[in-house]
Amino acid sequence: MRVFGCQQNFSDGEKLRGVLATCGFAAAPDIDRADVIIFDTCAVREHAEERVFGNVGALKSVKQDRRETVIAVVGCMTAQPTVARKMRDSYPFVDIICGTNALTELPRMLCEVFLSNSTVTEVGGETFPLDDSFEQLHTVRDNSFKASVPIMYGCDNFCSYCVVPYVRGRERSRAPEKIIAEVRALVADGVKYVLLLGQNVNSYNADKYDFARLLSELDEIDGDFWLDFMTSHPKDCSEGLIDIIAQSRHIVHRLHLPAQSGNDRVLRDMNRHYSRARYLQLARYAREKMPLMSLTTDILVGFPTETDSDFEDTLSLITDAQIDASYTFLYSPRTGTKAATLPDPSTKVEKQARFDKLLAAQRAVSEQLYARYFGVTMRVLCDSLGRVNTGVDGWYSGKSREGIIVDFMSNVDIKGQFVNVVITDTKHWAVVGKLI
Ligand code: 5AD
Ligand code: SF4
Repeated sequence: MRVFGCQQNFSDGEKLRGVLATCGFAAAPDIDRADVIIFDTCAVREHAEERVFGNVGALKSVKQDRRETVIAVVGCMTAQPTVARKMRDSYPFVDIICGTNALTELPRMLCEVFLSNSTVTEVGGETFPLDDSFEQLHTVRDNSFKASVPIMYGCDNFCSYCVVPYVRGRERSRAPEKIIAEVRALVADGVKYVLLLGQNVNSYNADKYDFARLLSELDEIDGDFWLDFMTSHPKDCSEGLIDIIAQSRHIVHRLHLPAQSGNDRVLRDMNRHYSRARYLQLARYAREKMPLMSLTTDILVGFPTETDSDFEDTLSLITDAQIDASYTFLYSPRTGTKAATLPDPSTKVEKQARFDKLLAAQRAVSEQLYARYFGVTMRVLCDSLGRVNTGVDGWYSGKSREGIIVDFMSNVDIKGQFVNVVITDTKHWAVVGKLI
């Protein structure tokens, strides 16, 4: 199975693995020996879809050599009826095509293909399951000490550039007692990092619980673990939520708050429902409460109505909000969204120039901000062997409670453990330190 896209897709992937395990399948050592090949796809940008088309196209020879291999393309990309049709027309050798919301049907589809040798297309885009059939699926976790827990599915925000509300449907919040029980069980099982997932976790709403109450109750669970969440929408993020994070025992001191743009008119055109001033207010409040916290963001460059002069406001937001790191994306028109119908006068070259400027500005701000960790002792959850970006032996890499990548040396294997590291050097994407 290959998973593309966001954390939610990776979480879906763990469920798919559970479904397959229940059906008696185990992971194949390599693609040439797989009986079933699954691509779990992303629709957020065209580039992601092109990659999947390329990867699936390359499987034609596999199907020619081993006709019995079942190929399935599932997820957000194939939840769009036009894309599902294009997949079917371009690659008739694909056996199963289904959308994100039809994943519970995968065992039945596999049976149909195995028993009748027919192909199955089930987009499922219009009929989102309102019951908890999806969440009841068995999960096979990728990692023994890190786990993600979806708290809600779908999105109601309809940001004008985004396809997610169309492919994942309306917001559905999971029952709080199920989430609390799941986190409790994960912690009891030795999990050290729990990531709560939702397209807009701030609009979590179920059985008299809002997100703040859910987070507070999860924070009361005993044990040595960190609690993280994504994604938080600035329109619904509040000072109260930041207070909860600051006072918490387990919640990470990192806020991922996608700004998308720093210009008020562009934000309005994006249907984001907050202003630059409000974003700055939240950023400053968070920093005031937690000086060492990290603030990360998503920026969309080249939205159709964005001009070079509007973009200057995005550039200055990076400095004014003191953003530690930004995930930057070039706008990609998505069929069915409002933005895709807008005139888009800026050229590719102009948009690329804005993108490059943003990377340079972010690098300068990060370099200066990361320097504040020099000499600080950070608690780090050790993630992997090898220094980030070099993989040199003897090094380990982990993340601090602020979500900062920390590289350090160790003679003993400490993967999956909390350690303390004093920071001796800082870069613009990571810090380096000495294990205490
Ligand atoms: N084009 C480019 N980037 C997009 N994103 C969402 N839709 C698009 C699009 N049409 C980005 C946003 C979002 C992140 C997950 O993906 O920045 O926060
Ligand atoms: Fe897309 Fe906006 Fe929903 Fe995020 S909040 S998934 S950007 S529509």
